[in-house]
Amino acid sequence: MNPLLARLHPYPFERWRELTRDIAPPAGLAPISLGIGEPRHATPALIEEAIVAALPGLASYPSTLGEPALREAIAGWVQRRYGVTLDPGTQILPVNGSREALFAFAQTVIDPTQPGATVLCPNPFYQIYEGAALLAGARTAFVASDPARHFAADWDAVDEATWGRTQLLYICSPGNPTGAVMPLAEWQRLFELSDRHGFVIASDECYSEIYFRDGPAHGPPLGSLQAARALGRDDFRNLVAFTSLSKRSNVPGLRSGFVAGDAALIKAFLLYRTYHGSAMGPVVQRASIAAWSDEAHVVANRELYRAKFAQVMPLLEPVLDVALPDAAFYLWAGLPGGGDEIAWARGLLAQYNVNVLPGRLLARDMPGPNTATPANPGQGRIRMALVAPVAECLEAARRIVSYTEGLR
Ligand SMILES: Cc1ncc(COP(=O)(O)O)c(C=O)c1O
Repeated sequence: MNPLLARLHPYPFERWRELTRDIAPPAGLAPISLGIGEPRHATPALIEEAIVAALPGLASYPSTLGEPALREAIAGWVQRRYGVTLDPGTQILPVNGSREALFAFAQTVIDPTQPGATVLCPNPFYQIYEGAALLAGARTAFVASDPARHFAADWDAVDEATWGRTQLLYICSPGNPTGAVMPLAEWQRLFELSDRHGFVIASDECYSEIYFRDGPAHGPPLGSLQAARALGRDDFRNLVAFTSLSKRSNVPGLRSGFVAGDAALIKAFLLYRTYHGSAMGPVVQRASIAAWSDEAHVVANRELYRAKFAQVMPLLEPVLDVALPDAAFYLWAGLPGGGDEIAWARGLLAQYNVNVLPGRLLARDMPGPNTATPANPGQGRIRMALVAPVAECLEAARRIVSYTEGLR
């Protein structure tokens, strides 16, 4: 067996199931899950119709590069969304959802023969980054997000030696679970660090289309390609962006996304993917062309989230340390007094049959003393995914209010 498999950590949902195995929630209250971040709004008809229309295309193997029409549709979307022109021939690849691509990219980029090969991850973070790093033969290092600075990563806490060993940096903007969007100044700093130390940046942007405010100060989340272009990095050197249809178009079951950026990295990734056998099926390619070419369903989807958050926030704000995020569909809420969130979430499930995810399960303990942030940046926080219909989310919020009042 591959010994690296033994280094993987149990997935947070698995750990949470273990931690709640002994709980029997009240049978009289319908279960409500705010635990899993799986979109639950309806898939647009235009995507389903495109799937049906594409069914005759199954009789041939697809290429790993994808149909030119798909890469052109993606380039068109990137142009409209970010004002960035990409070469569909060399700077874009279709992927089967961003998860597999985020994983596979580390296998392409990491050189485990270098001493101390390191992958730097945000903390809290999407668990795939860690598994990807470990199975690529690298070690992980973490950068805590700082609640006092709108959950910005504490880059100052990374020492020079760690930067020197870093081969790959994962960025998640908008962030899961914090919902924070990284501003241009921070991108500039990371690009400078990447130039100095030679690491690659994988920018996970799968929540880019779910945001809550409009206008010049708070427009759509800044994309990494957009940031690179604004800073004159026209070749996107050492940068690849990961974008997905799952959340944008409510098709987590379709498994469709794309990567875009540095042509040299895309070329290496294409080579890896050819051997890995991860070409996108022709039906999914056709459905994806329909999805990337339409924006009306994305606007409507965003409106559903906005309306939902607008109704839920006034209920939760008085009882939890929580604010409307920049983007994504999570609330990363602090408990009053920063209590033990595992005990808190167990109590909520036991008394009110509402599932939330304790913050510690989404983060790792940070080594060394750090007085500004707790040892584990998830401590004292819970993640709530507002993916269920609005009535269900409101009912969950009311139960949380009753629960917190009962704890006083
Ligand atoms: C931060 C983040 N990145 C990537 C993904 C993967 O999404 P998909 O593989 O559906 O594109 C998820 C899914 O929940 C996520 O939360």
